[in-house]
Amino acid sequence: MTITDEILELKNQRGAVILAHNYCRGEVQDIADYTGDSLELARKAANVDAPVIVFCGVYFMAETAAILNPGKTVLIPDATAGCPMADMITGAQLRELKAKHPGAKAVCYVNSTAEVKAECHICVTSGNAEKVMATFGKDEEILFVPDRHLGSHIAEKLGVEYVLWPGYCPTHAKLTPAMIERARAAYPGAPVIVHPECSKAVRDLADQCLSTGGMCKWARTTDAKTILVGTELGICHRLRKENPGKEFIPIADHLVCPNMKKTTLEKVRDCLRDMSPAVKVPPEIAIPARLAIDRMLAIR
Ligand code: 13P
Ligand code: SF4
Repeated sequence: MTITDEILELKNQRGAVILAHNYCRGEVQDIADYTGDSLELARKAANVDAPVIVFCGVYFMAETAAILNPGKTVLIPDATAGCPMADMITGAQLRELKAKHPGAKAVCYVNSTAEVKAECHICVTSGNAEKVMATFGKDEEILFVPDRHLGSHIAEKLGVEYVLWPGYCPTHAKLTPAMIERARAAYPGAPVIVHPECSKAVRDLADQCLSTGGMCKWARTTDAKTILVGTELGICHRLRKENPGKEFIPIADHLVCPNMKKTTLEKVRDCLRDMSPAVKVPPEIAIPARLAIDRMLAIR
């Protein structure tokens, strides 16, 4: 029996659904029932019928699925698959920031811990941040955590300023303006797509700054035949699969999120076999965190 057959058999036995982020290994994306960006996966998790969800991605994503599904079992194939950006602010640090800015509203990127979400009014993903942030008045004081790059990108688009927490994604931080310029010189005329977690200097050199789901949609509609990709390399698997007539060139071969790569087929099989590791969020955190997530999901 191949490992894929083993996974399918266990999945049927458990009545499980497998969700995978666009940065997962190609073979993991291929066995998933649904692959998407953080927003698409959160929406999927909110509407899943299955009693068991296997979340292939990083911890905060599985935690979000667990918060949305208190009666279900949410499995994460490798519980050490964290997001360093999410860990750049703690609940205590956010409480301290809020105390310094009474009256301000705290907003978190979904790449944050449940404890931080529980302290926030609403959360955003890179796929909906502009729409969600546009619901605030221009004169409202906003504390935006933890990603300073996504925060500054949205503030710039909406012509406002936020109090930004100095968090960042260590993987996207590896992409430099020089790398974009080198790729453009090697592929003249090819459009550059980057993720909003990139620095402003990088974003300013790009043609499109999109969530990973936004990149997949954009790639389907563009007339360009060669596209330069400035985000985690896992996305190229899906882009190539969905657009066989187009060429996707990674701008830098080292844009790899080590945590996203921790999920292997073997670990997916093992977690379904053992029904572990499961993600559990205590109700005193899950209930307020869910408010922030539900407020975001209500904005369409
Ligand atoms: P999106 O897939 O929502 O664009 O987010 C990227 C990311 O870094 C997830 O950790
Ligand atoms: Fe976190 Fe960056 Fe990895 Fe996304 S790519 S999970 S933001 S470290």
